[in-house]
Amino acid sequence: MQNSKRQILSLATGVMLVLGASQACAVTTLKLSHNQSRSHAVHQAMTQFADEVKEKTNGEVRIRIYSDSQLGNQRESIELMQNGALDIAKSNAAELEAFSPAYFIFNLPYLFRDKTHYQQVMNSDIGKEILNSSQNMGFIGLTYYDAGARSFYAKKPIRTPEDLKGLKIRVQPSPSAIALVKGLAGNPTPLAYGELYTALQQGVVDAAENNIPSFTLSRHSEVTKFFSLDEHTMIPDVLLISNNSLNKLTTEQQAIVKKAALNSSKYMIQLWEKSEKEERAKAEKQGVEFIHVDKTLFQNAVNPMYDKMAETHPELFEMVKRVRKVE
Ligand code: GCU
Repeated sequence: MQNSKRQILSLATGVMLVLGASQACAVTTLKLSHNQSRSHAVHQAMTQFADEVKEKTNGEVRIRIYSDSQLGNQRESIELMQNGALDIAKSNAAELEAFSPAYFIFNLPYLFRDKTHYQQVMNSDIGKEILNSSQNMGFIGLTYYDAGARSFYAKKPIRTPEDLKGLKIRVQPSPSAIALVKGLAGNPTPLAYGELYTALQQGVVDAAENNIPSFTLSRHSEVTKFFSLDEHTMIPDVLLISNNSLNKLTTEQQAIVKKAALNSSKYMIQLWEKSEKEERAKAEKQGVEFIHVDKTLFQNAVNPMYDKMAETHPELFEMVKRVRKVE
C-alpha cells in the first residue's frame, strides 16, 4: 500500500476511534435509589421507566436502580441527591414534607373522598404544583406512584380509635404523621422504614401503619398479626430527580425522561391493584387477621386536626379547601 493511502487509512481509523470515544462519552448513567425490595410493585414500575428511557434515547441515557435502601434510607437518598452524589430517588410523599411543606396535603387523614379523588388531585394543577414545589431545594418530582391507602396494624386488634391509646406507633418521619397519631392519643415514634421490622420484632414499637403490600413485602406481617382496615391516609410515592441531573440532559432527553415517568405511573396503577390483592391473600395465609372497622369513628377522632389548622395555619387550610374542591 502506498504511503499516502496508509496515512489516510490510519487517519480515518483515528477519526473513527475518536467518534467512537465521543459516542461512548455521550452515554449518561443516572443512579436511582429506593427503599423497597425488588419484588415490590414500585420497583417494577421504575424498571419500566428505566427501560423506556434507555430505548427511547437509543441507549444514551441509562438508569441504574439501587433497591432496598442500598444507598441510604429515603431521607439520606434525598440528601445525596441534593449533594450531587445521586440523580434520582423515590420517596414517600410523607417524608418529603420535611423538604417541601406543600407535601403535607398527602399526610392529612381522610382528606380524599375516595381513590378517584386522590388520583384526580395528583393529576390536577395542585398535584403538579406540589411536584415542582421543591425546585429551590435542588430537585423536582417527576411523577407520583399510587401507594394505596394506609391503615394501622398492631400486635393486638385495633377496632376503635380508643384501642390506639398509649400504643407506641411507628410513623414516617414527618410532622403531620406525628400530629395524626398524637391526635389519636397514640405515642408516635418516627423511624425509617428499614428499621421497622426489628423495632416491631423487639417490641420497640407496638404498632405501625402502611399499605398491605409494604406490610407483607417488608415481612412486618410475620411479627404483627392484626391489620385494621381504617384507611386513614392515601400517600403516594414520588419519583424525584435533581435539577442538576435533569439539566445535564438534552431537551429531547428531558422530554423522554418526563414522558417515561408518567407512563410508569400509569403502569403502577395496574401493578398496584394486582399487588394489593396478592399480598392480602399472602398475609391471610400467614395468619394475619384483617379487621373491618367503622371508619367514621376514626374520622371523627381526627376532625379536630382540621379545626385547629383552620385557626392556626389558615394558609395551609386554604390548600385543604382547594383539594376538597377538586373533581
Ligand atoms: C410505603 C412507601 C415507602 C415508605 C414506607 C414507610 O411503603 O411506599 O416509600 O418508606 O411506606 O412507611 O416508610
